[in-house]
Amino acid sequence: MKNNKITIEEVKKYWGKKNIPQQWYSKKKPFSLAWFNELAFKRFGKYYDYLPKDAEFEYHQGEDVLEVGCGIGTDLVEYAKYGAKVSGMDLGEDQVRITKLNFELHGLPYSEMKVGNAEKLPFADNSFDLVFCFGVLHHTPNTKKAIEEMFRVLKPDGTVLAMMYARGWKHYLKRCFIHGILKGRWMANGCSWQKVYNESSEVHGFTPKTAIHTKREIKKMFNKFPNLELRKKRLGEFFEYKPYRTVMFPKFVRNFLYLLNLESLIGENWFIRAQKADFKKDAKLWDVIFNKY
Ligand SMILES: C[S@@+](CC[C@H](N)C(=O)[O-])C[C@H]1O[C@@H](n2cnc3c(N)ncnc32)[C@H](O)[C@@H]1O
Repeated sequence: MKNNKITIEEVKKYWGKKNIPQQWYSKKKPFSLAWFNELAFKRFGKYYDYLPKDAEFEYHQGEDVLEVGCGIGTDLVEYAKYGAKVSGMDLGEDQVRITKLNFELHGLPYSEMKVGNAEKLPFADNSFDLVFCFGVLHHTPNTKKAIEEMFRVLKPDGTVLAMMYARGWKHYLKRCFIHGILKGRWMANGCSWQKVYNESSEVHGFTPKTAIHTKREIKKMFNKFPNLELRKKRLGEFFEYKPYRTVMFPKFVRNFLYLLNLESLIGENWFIRAQKADFKKDAKLWDVIFNKY
């Protein structure tokens, strides 16, 4: 979705200082190894427990991996731990500096770590086997441009793994109903739902842009990729997600909802796996039963 009204400078300014991602997960001494370790422990064990499997950290050994919008480098460090040749980039100087520190403290190597804009990636065509981009595309002014850039820097058989926000149940309840209608922010924002999403998303709110996408919109933006898999993840079990004020559903409720496979219907993240090459798709059950035999 193109949003011409906001500039990349506004986005860059917002994500600096108090909004540098993940920093509130740990109360240990900031920027120490123990701090980075606890951030990773909470991220992979609690807040985004689907990531270790879906981000395929273990399966890109020896490959060239780029993270677009790397934040403080928690995910990129995981690819490096498993032997990928990693590069990272982010709009913010602070994020890039902190990511470099994260690698240094872990004693892990990286190829390139750059300040830059996802909409104009500072990397050559056909450079990466994997481009990973988590929670970034819905914040950049021209999302379609950033997706085209990821396509450009991928090798011909490369893959994009990305997370973008989906319209899960919490989107309608918290953003639309509670914030937009009950608190009167939809009216106050000139009946603009986009402005309601911008100000009610993220830990401290009031983002320059937070787009919440439908499946159709994502498919359209990724239309250059011949192979596209979209899955809804994360039930929205963190009803409140403020620093040290996370409120979760009780475990038995969560387990019941997962048992009913409701994550794929009402989940709040789109996890996207897009391939540049037109690999043959898996056969459908119908094909196997009626066409192949
Ligand atoms: C919600 S944080 C996600 C960071 C990290 N991927 C994570 O999951 O913790 C959004 C990050 O995207 C970066 N960002 C936003 N727009 C960007 C752009 N156009 N190019 C590069 N980075 C961008 C911000 O600076 C910020 O660090």
